[in-house]
Amino acid sequence: MEPLLEVKDLDVAYGKIQVLWGVSFKVYKGEVVALVGSNGAGKTTTLKTIMGLIKPVKGAVLFEGRRIDGLPTHSIVKMGVTLVPEGRQLFPELSVYDHLIAGAYLLKDKDVIRERLEFVYDLFPVLKERRSQKAGTLSGGEQQMLAIGRALMSMPKLMMFDEPSLGLAPKLVDAILDTIARLRYEGITILLVEQNVRAALEISDRGYVIENGRIILEGKSSELLESERVKKAYLAI
Ligand SMILES: Nc1ncnc2c1ncn2[C@@H]1O[C@H](COP(=O)(O)OP(=O)(O)OP(=O)(O)O)[C@@H](O)[C@H]1O
Ligand SMILES: [Mg+2]
Repeated sequence: MEPLLEVKDLDVAYGKIQVLWGVSFKVYKGEVVALVGSNGAGKTTTLKTIMGLIKPVKGAVLFEGRRIDGLPTHSIVKMGVTLVPEGRQLFPELSVYDHLIAGAYLLKDKDVIRERLEFVYDLFPVLKERRSQKAGTLSGGEQQMLAIGRALMSMPKLMMFDEPSLGLAPKLVDAILDTIARLRYEGITILLVEQNVRAALEISDRGYVIENGRIILEGKSSELLESERVKKAYLAI
């Protein structure tokens, strides 16, 4: 089977400083794949490169077998790839509703947009209740739901999450992880980036560990959770 997303031997640099070294991984349709690693390992850089926000020095990104590296971000979104960015990146003065409609900017059909909106409101009823509220006044958890809701409006095939649990209380972390499980059930494939290695490996099928810009381990998430190397470096209490 052909992977939905394939990242092949990616080298990425900021100016003269190289931060990704031969990064390769695959995500198959229907999977939840975790990309885990510490601060500065290169996780966000990897996601930004997939979204077309950074041009790699070397390597390729394929989506449904087609090369997408070098394409503009809006074309990549149109093909069905979306990112829930680190730090949510909402507009404090814009309402919940306006954020969601903005997320559907590539959809033309009003009925489809309405359908998507109902889907998001069904997933997060609190967003419906607070549809007129400014994003800046939402709680942290509600803001995370809005960031996910906005990404869902574009009808993605692949959703990438950049540290969705960051800054959330444990109960909310569980709620967000439950949401990810539900999205998978809805047929959305997921690439989950986390520093919360245990949580990410617990809800994913497979995982990749990135250190200093290199993939150093990969495997079934259940096996990675048992691996001495992962336990020692990431799961020590
Ligand atoms: N715009 C930039 N210009 C220069 N260097 C950058 C830039 N963005 C990131 N870097 C550097 O690239 C490396 C990888 O950063 P990246 O943000 O991809 O890490 P990360 O794994 O997402 O870390 P975190 O878990 O802290 O978010 C770091 O050393 C970082 O300082
Ligand atoms: Mg990051």
